[in-house]
Amino acid sequence: MSCPPKSDDLVFFVNGRKVIERNADPEVTLLNFLRKNLRLTGTKYACGRGGCGACTVMVSKHDPVSAKIRHFSITACLVPICSLYGAAVTTVEGIGSINTRLHPVQERIARSHGTQCGFCTPGMVMSMYTLLRNHLQPSEEQLMEALGGNLCRCTGYRPILASGRTFCVESTDCQKKRTGKCCLDLGGNDSSSLSRESDICTDLFVEEEFQPLDPTQELIFPPELLRMAKNPEKQTLTFHGERVTWISPGTLKDLLELKAKHPEAPLILGNTSLGPAMKSQGRVHPILLSPARISELSMVFKTSDGLTIGAGCSLAQVKDILAEQVSELPEEKTQTYRALLKHLKSLAGQQIRNMASLGGHVISRHCYSDLNPILVVGNATLNVISEEGTRQIPLNDHFLAGLASADLKPEEILESVYIPHSQKWEFVSAFRQAQCQQNALADVSAGMRVILEEATDTIKELSLSYGGVGESTIGAHKSCQQLIGRPWNEPMLEEACRLLLEEVSLPGWAPGGRVEFKRTLVVSFFFKFYLEVLQELKKLVKVSDSHHYPEISDRFLSALEDFPVTGPRGVQRYQSVDSHQSLQDPVGRPIMHLSGLKHATGEAIFCDDIPMVDRELFMVLVTSTKAHAKIISIDLSEALELPGVVDVITAEDIPGTNGAEDDKLLAVDEVLCVGQIICAVVAETDVQAKRAIEKIKITYKDLEPIIFTINDAIKHNSFLCPEKKLEQGNIEEAFEKVDQIVEGEVHVGGQEHFYMETQRVIVIPKAEDKELDIYVSTQDPAHVQKTVSSTLNIPINRITCHVKRVGGGFGGKVGRPAVFGAIAAVGAIKTGRPIRLVLDREDDMLITGGRHPLFGKYKVGFMNNGRIKALDIECFINGGCTLDDSEQVTEFLILKLENAYKIRNLRFRGRACMTNLPSNTAFRGFGFPQGTLITESCITAVAAKCGLLPEEIREKNMYKTIDKTIYKQAFSPETLIRCWNECLDKSSFHSRRIQVEEFNKKNYWKKKGIAIIPMKFSVGFAATSYHQAAALVHIYTDGSVLVTHGGNELGQGIHTKMLQVASRELKLPMSYMHICETSTATVPNTIATAASIGSDVNGKAVQNACQILLKRLEPIIKKNPGGTWEDWIEAAFEQRISLSATGYFRGYKADMDWEKGEGDPFPYYVYGAACSEVEIDCLTGAHKKIRTDIIMDACCSLNPAIDIGQVEGSFIQGMGLYTTEELKYSPEGVLYSRGPDEYKIPTITDVPEEFNVSLLPSSQTPLTIYSSKGLGESGMFLGSSVFFAITDAVAAACKERDIVEDFIVKSPATPEQVRMACADRFTEMIPRDDPQTFKPWSIPIA
Ligand SMILES: Cc1cc2nc3c(=O)[nH]c(=O)nc-3n(C[C@H](O)[C@H](O)[C@H](O)COP(=O)(O)OP(=O)(O)OC[C@H]3O[C@@H](n4cnc5c(N)ncnc54)[C@H](O)[C@@H]3O)c2cc1C
Ligand code: FES
Ligand code: FES
Repeated sequence: MSCPPKSDDLVFFVNGRKVIERNADPEVTLLNFLRKNLRLTGTKYACGRGGCGACTVMVSKHDPVSAKIRHFSITACLVPICSLYGAAVTTVEGIGSINTRLHPVQERIARSHGTQCGFCTPGMVMSMYTLLRNHLQPSEEQLMEALGGNLCRCTGYRPILASGRTFCVESTDCQKKRTGKCCLDLGGNDSSSLSRESDICTDLFVEEEFQPLDPTQELIFPPELLRMAKNPEKQTLTFHGERVTWISPGTLKDLLELKAKHPEAPLILGNTSLGPAMKSQGRVHPILLSPARISELSMVFKTSDGLTIGAGCSLAQVKDILAEQVSELPEEKTQTYRALLKHLKSLAGQQIRNMASLGGHVISRHCYSDLNPILVVGNATLNVISEEGTRQIPLNDHFLAGLASADLKPEEILESVYIPHSQKWEFVSAFRQAQCQQNALADVSAGMRVILEEATDTIKELSLSYGGVGESTIGAHKSCQQLIGRPWNEPMLEEACRLLLEEVSLPGWAPGGRVEFKRTLVVSFFFKFYLEVLQELKKLVKVSDSHHYPEISDRFLSALEDFPVTGPRGVQRYQSVDSHQSLQDPVGRPIMHLSGLKHATGEAIFCDDIPMVDRELFMVLVTSTKAHAKIISIDLSEALELPGVVDVITAEDIPGTNGAEDDKLLAVDEVLCVGQIICAVVAETDVQAKRAIEKIKITYKDLEPIIFTINDAIKHNSFLCPEKKLEQGNIEEAFEKVDQIVEGEVHVGGQEHFYMETQRVIVIPKAEDKELDIYVSTQDPAHVQKTVSSTLNIPINRITCHVKRVGGGFGGKVGRPAVFGAIAAVGAIKTGRPIRLVLDREDDMLITGGRHPLFGKYKVGFMNNGRIKALDIECFINGGCTLDDSEQVTEFLILKLENAYKIRNLRFRGRACMTNLPSNTAFRGFGFPQGTLITESCITAVAAKCGLLPEEIREKNMYKTIDKTIYKQAFSPETLIRCWNECLDKSSFHSRRIQVEEFNKKNYWKKKGIAIIPMKFSVGFAATSYHQAAALVHIYTDGSVLVTHGGNELGQGIHTKMLQVASRELKLPMSYMHICETSTATVPNTIATAASIGSDVNGKAVQNACQILLKRLEPIIKKNPGGTWEDWIEAAFEQRISLSATGYFRGYKADMDWEKGEGDPFPYYVYGAACSEVEIDCLTGAHKKIRTDIIMDACCSLNPAIDIGQVEGSFIQGMGLYTTEELKYSPEGVLYSRGPDEYKIPTITDVPEEFNVSLLPSSQTPLTIYSSKGLGESGMFLGSSVFFAITDAVAAACKERDIVEDFIVKSPATPEQVRMACADRFTEMIPRDDPQTFKPWSIPIA
């Protein structure tokens, strides 16, 4: 291989230190460079596509135009290092450390309990830090904007915002109000027990203890870079990599010369378009031209008729420039600028807006572009330049469609974009609808402009441009042309819609799907525009009273407002500890997560942060591209030839067992789904391994049948396990006696775990005795250990699994890590070298499966007063191609289906379908969140039929007295009823129900909905052996204590809770104690940390170990009661008393006899209730979460900060399941949704505007550790209160429109579902396709 020519030195700074890279490779991103070259592992990889913010760092650059230093956040995964010449990078390590000084941002996010798993935390910290570098006292709006591009899967965002708010100018956060009266009390009803009690706390941290923000302590911009910037080198810099050369000219002239010489070479600005495309399409551009140093491209010119913005300006800069123009010019001139500003607020996250350039945006011509439709209708012009000179091209559809006659010539570049001012009687608007409000690509975006003849309503000019409805931005020229001269009135609207639907047509099979929704948006947006213009005209008419415009009725005005982005506020309430509790005793106090500060400084080590081990190799998995096929051949030869490739591991290399007969680790002969692992490439580097997988040739022969949907599985009788059934009473007889019967269907889509840390494992083979050390991100290290043992055919005692911490699990790291661990172990044994396997987000989503999609049918019989007498539910879950946890999920589903209701005659049946999709697995709630949606849907159906409110039906049918469940387990519903009543009270439910109805009467296009949902959630596994736990506690001779237990730290704070337990038992401050890791060598045969029971059972084991130790120390303490802990330990050592003890908990009794349909499967229940209120936009399907109140029965919480965090986090995750998270599959069974672009988990802007969480006080459960309860999963289902509030709002819309109630429920309630359910004249206008006539882009699998 020939050496690349000599490169220039790449000079930049990282955390104040100069970096000179002599051989900078243009293909290396800043993220890889930081993590691998500089060993700064605080910056995390979670998606690699700029969509999650985990890799956020701050970049500072001298701006030649303003002559100021610009600090901005970026996503390091998209930034090529070569773009950093002359820049200063600040990472989370650069701003503070636990060993030196913490930065206030780091301290506050940790102490405000804003970290759980901590994987997103460095990114959050850096987004906030950058904000503070630019605004010492930011507004709340700026804070929301700064964090909009950062995803967190654990916390539910509220505590992160709370920490950020402590820096804000003013705070609406109740936590900050020191008035002694919180905002919840204002609306609350004083009769509730919460407000009566004086021992209720609402503070989870003490703000006064935070160190102040001192800007003088910040790193300064390196003087050397300042000198470089002030005397810029004009010479061209060139960086040669193995495949790509980066050329960065110093002058515009050189750039144009280079472009003429390399016309095919793209310009690279933000790399937010090029980067993801190169990654997903595997495309390589041998030459990249970087205009970053050309100041001409960043110029801004304001003239009397318009604004010229340099193509190199970032979208964030464009936003500032436009905002300035809007503030300077009269409103009539800034119509286009306002429209652009509106979309710039929601386009991507702050980091992307900081990186992406205007030029890159325009030239990328994405069909979903938010800005291009507005620029088109705003008559923007492109100023292009080449060696030949400059010329102007109109930014129109022809240009956006890439027509050669309207495009740049290959040697031209875009210099700037000219956007003219608007004029009087000209109106410009922008519209977009995406899966969620912010940081999501639009399904449809639009720019609309009309000019009316002066002081009339006659259309003089009309431009309508749409994104998302074709391969490029599409203009509706013909329609516009035909409408010229028409008055702006209803008949015009009607005609316009007809014309638009003809012209902007979208075939049924269109990529991206959601076709009918998109068609509806095309006309709905126009209707909004129509009303907006009328509204504006009404304002103008006051001035020029010469014309009368159609009136908009007050009820229709609601169509006009967009939902604003508002930072959530709210209160968290919990019971304070008894005033007699010793100050040293931390149990029941809101202790910060043990790793909180380390999360915030980036010093918390996750699996892939472990430094490279000597001779380490990287593994990448090769997966099936076919859903059901015979493997005819696998040709590895080309891959093995590639540089760096060491081996390819196939099933033949497995010395022991290749998984189970029907669930192989590596496929043999046959594949059962797209994404099934076939083999694995092992190479010196990740890049080499990834390149090699493309060279592996696998030939297949398709097999029949291919089944993806539950319906098809039922047809083919394709099931993974026998039916599970529970029955009570006499259902058939009961149906005969009831007043009414309703039957309905419920479809619940699957859910991706989207843990921020993808699956990772490092396997290190040892030279001696076939020993292996495995560092793995798992909820179940013993399972990894066991699987590796059987795969390698070596005893379990040779294998040690280590889990320091896990960057989120949610059930997704119970079973699957064993597969990855075992394959990596085979590679390690075969090559004799350590193996690192880190899944890309795409592969993780493709391979691992998630929550089971569900299809349920119900038949419910009831009396006219709403009393349910009989309920028959049959449900099916889509299990995928192997059994995994599907049988247990079915069991749990059936066991939990009754939720909080006492119905005498019940029949529940469930089956797990076998399909050709990746195997679905455990997920927080384990079937409960899907199944119970059926039960609650029955309630709403009954309410609709009886003409009663759903809450009345809920209350009427709820368990009231000590009773037995369908499986005959006795329980008392007292706490359930308390939660329900508290929730009604605290949410002021009844008065708000009236307000909602009032609102709905007054508004036609916006509807509000409110719902309150009760919950009885059973905790634990349905088997006693799964509740056993062990701990090992050592006391060392200096008095320090090392605690080890069988639970894994997934972010749920188990280690913190365990030290709280140890601290109480040993009567010793937590500062004496440490937990190092979970290891199979210290605590063997552990059970997965799951089912909400981890802290409980491990707490019992820790308690037991500590009590043993204390008993041994008792004689010594008695002898020297005034001695210190250290004295006693020294004495114990002298007296040869063992200072190490194993604690053990045999587990709660739990069993279930499925033959009899009876048992005591669960140790206890968690009760709760949640009330949510939403507002929907009937025209777009968007919704706003107005308020949520949760009451959760935590009994005596071990740590209220952690428990409230669990409730909030799981609620938001549940809300995602029921509203935005949608997995899309192709008709060939290929998962499309493989990253944050396509799969939308809630962002910070999705949190309810008011979000109150209360832990129910004075509740007891003698069974558990200190009477606490496990809250890991239960909150998930309470997210359904948002779903039912949306349903309630939709029902109000349907009622008004006389649409007959439909009993088919579909979750998630996406904007598409909501819009299409609110049928109206626009949905009626759209063409409908016969599904038999085309192949759809995606198929529903539930
Ligand atoms: C996570 C994420 C979220 C996003 N969300 C949204 C969204 O919500 N709405 C939306 O509309 N967009 C969204 N985008 C797309 C984004 O707006 C574009 O990727 C971005 O504007 C491209 O700019 P860039 O500077 O990064 O272009 P680059 O990737 O650097 O370049 C893109 C292309 O433009 C060409 N080019 C760039 N500048 C010039 C020039 N001056 N002259 C000639 N050619 C040039 C390059 O040759 C290249 O082909 C998102 C992108 C990401 C990564
Ligand atoms: S890893 Fe960079 S944004 Fe997700
Ligand atoms: S704490 Fe945010 S992802 Fe885990």
